[in-house]
Amino acid sequence: MVDCTIKVDQPRAVPKMSSAEVIGMRDVAAPLASGLEGVVVAETRLSEVDGERGRLTLAGHDVEELAGGGGVTFEDACGLLWGGALPGAAERESLRRAIAEGRTRAFALLGRLGDALQAGDGMDAIRAAVAHLSGDVPPAAIAGAVATFAAAWARRCAGEAPVAPDPALRLSADYLRMARGAAASEAEARELDTYLVTVSDHGMNASTFTARVVTSTGSDAISAVVAAIGALKGPLHGGAPGPVLDMLDAVAAKAGEGGAPAPGCAERWIQAELAAGRRIMGMGHRIYRVRDPRAAVLERAIERLERTAGGARSARLALAREVERAAEAALSARHPDRPLRANVEFYTAVLLDALGLPRALFAPTFAVGRVAGWCAHIDEQRRAGRLIRPSSRYIGGVPRAAAPPH
Ligand code: COA
Repeated sequence: MVDCTIKVDQPRAVPKMSSAEVIGMRDVAAPLASGLEGVVVAETRLSEVDGERGRLTLAGHDVEELAGGGGVTFEDACGLLWGGALPGAAERESLRRAIAEGRTRAFALLGRLGDALQAGDGMDAIRAAVAHLSGDVPPAAIAGAVATFAAAWARRCAGEAPVAPDPALRLSADYLRMARGAAASEAEARELDTYLVTVSDHGMNASTFTARVVTSTGSDAISAVVAAIGALKGPLHGGAPGPVLDMLDAVAAKAGEGGAPAPGCAERWIQAELAAGRRIMGMGHRIYRVRDPRAAVLERAIERLERTAGGARSARLALAREVERAAEAALSARHPDRPLRANVEFYTAVLLDALGLPRALFAPTFAVGRVAGWCAHIDEQRRAGRLIRPSSRYIGGVPRAAAPPH
């Protein structure tokens, strides 16, 4: 059931206005919802975020069940979001082929992207590269292109030539292969699938909303995806996992014997960051008031990956857990009324690092997964057919001609 409750920010205190300013009064009376919390702008069959109970439903499936390591692939998530149900074997294969064909076509375009992939930032690079596609490209082609451009950008940064896609592989295995230049094991491909499925959609998040706003104007799918990539780039949305890894490195730099953090060192580092007025990346969420369920899914994926690699639990996972505990305690002391717990980005950083992806590629890899949701929302928004056009409250000056005579 869609929650139709409209909650709004407390109306802002309005300064006393002169008679010349009263022309804006009708707007002042409307409530201000600057972050749009609780404002319902669409009905969707795609996903629901239950922030109180910490649940994410993806088209009728609980995320912990869907992405819990049971072999659901990125292509399955695309089938679910684009078609409304998990695909059967034949449909799964046809989606796999269509997305692989998208990778092959995108790879053929690499020489015609100008300096798009020269950008220093991976999100700038994929945004510019996707912008070279034109008009209403089908979702499978867009998904294949985002993965190909992201991997080619990573190769360029490493000073290596791009790796051509292998159309016989599913996206997860081929993406790891193209980005790293080395084939992925089945366990690695499976856990990248876990990640991509987990992040494939998430309610009316900022990038999805952006895609829907652009679509609502009647614009094309590529314009909507390009705008969504721009929204996802921000550190408050998809740009957090790189900085999460920087944080873990900074704490590890103060490590004690055997790479384990010295007692209290995570706490001290967190306190120093907060004292400097900085946010702890990977912590807090606009909707969740408990731990983000996706953090648990990804934490288990890291454990599985480490078990199949035959090694002991990595120092990094242990460190991440310790930093999470320290951050949660410090944030709860500072904000006793506002639960700020680990979000998806926290363990994204550890998982993608364990999969051998460079940290600069973390945000683009988020886009590789989220593009499945964007494409589904673009289709849904088109069907809704309603221009999204909210209002603003004017607090600027009044034109001279409109001012009443003294
Ligand atoms: N570290 C430190 N303080 C934080 C914090 C964090 N990660 N997240 C929120 N806070 C603080 C805010 O500074 C604010 O404090 P104040 O009331 O003293 O000003 C208070 O908690 C409420 O935060 P608010 O900005 O209202 O929360 P939000 O719903 O707008 O923000 C996020 C949600 C995700 C943007 C925010 O938690 C954040 O910046 N997290 C870090 C970035 C991140 O991990 N992004 C990925 C999201 S999936």
